Amino acid sequence: MFIHNDWYIAAWGSEIKGRPFARTILNQPLVLYRERNGKVAALEDRCCHRGTPLAHGTVVSEGLQCGYHGLVFAASGACVRVPGQEHIPAQARVRSYPVVEQDEFVWIWMGDAAQADRSRIISYPYHNDYVHWPHKCTTLQVKCDYLLLIDNLMDLTHLGYVHGRTVGGAPMTHVAAKMDIIPTPTGVKFIRWMLNSVPPATYAKAVGFKGRVDRWQETEFIAPSSVLQFTGALEAGRGAYEQGKREGGFALRLFHGITPETDETCFYFWSAANGYRQDDPAATEQLFNDIAVTFDEDRLILEAQHARLQGSPTLPLLDIDADGVRIQARRHLERRLAEETEMPAAK
Ligand code: FES
Ligand SMILES: [Fe+2]
Repeated sequence: MFIHNDWYIAAWGSEIKGRPFARTILNQPLVLYRERNGKVAALEDRCCHRGTPLAHGTVVSEGLQCGYHGLVFAASGACVRVPGQEHIPAQARVRSYPVVEQDEFVWIWMGDAAQADRSRIISYPYHNDYVHWPHKCTTLQVKCDYLLLIDNLMDLTHLGYVHGRTVGGAPMTHVAAKMDIIPTPTGVKFIRWMLNSVPPATYAKAVGFKGRVDRWQETEFIAPSSVLQFTGALEAGRGAYEQGKREGGFALRLFHGITPETDETCFYFWSAANGYRQDDPAATEQLFNDIAVTFDEDRLILEAQHARLQGSPTLPLLDIDADGVRIQARRHLERRLAEETEMPAAK
């Protein structure tokens, strides 16, 4: 069961060109394409004539032309041309989905189009600011229930065990972090501090920390499936914690966009922005490479966890103290799902 009445990331804007691009989201096969006017459109990937995927077609001036018998569909989903006949039947249409390209993302609304409210799309201005936040982005396909990936990001104690090569290690430092949890109308935020701690490999490599650091992790989960992180460190005692200083050490921003593909798989759209050596492309590249290693470590754990849970769906699991935020995020999603299922079905 998925929340449908909300925005999900369908793709990076750079992925969508003037040819059809097939992607399944929330179990629904879609075709995305860029119209001749540059706008991104998304349609059901099934021609209403004989069911052929429209992703086999071609973008033409009036819209997307099916590759089988040439019907053409506008971005609204309406059929605008039937080769060889003048009359276009009223039922000649496919479902279209609201899409908005913003901050390098293509957001898609999977539910009732009449409720698609652009103002609810998450703003991420850092993607438009290559001077202060040079960044790189990519997509991982993960063979797990998307909720497991959200769980992963809500419990950062796993860094101690999973990410020793990059942003983690020192498990007890992570377990003992000071932690504030702040519920929000759209999800939950948490701030963690690891004061006077040994910098992990990625941090030390990035700015050459010689001694201990005061390290922060600010994380916000925004339903249904985005997680925004601002993390970094200053040398211990320079005022990161006491005075809120963030400049002059290591800092990065991570965007995690998790879009269910099917019940068993999800897309992990992520970007890593360099907030410490902004004028050095090699630093941005090195950060990206370290985070890519990190998230691939998560992928391996999550796919193994998903497979095991699939094989033992009725066996109980145990909550520990570290699950606090994870449980809040899950409850938020459960509430949203309950609200949506009480509403009229999506058109
Ligand atoms: S199946 Fe699409 S035009 Fe025939
Ligand atoms: Fe991780």
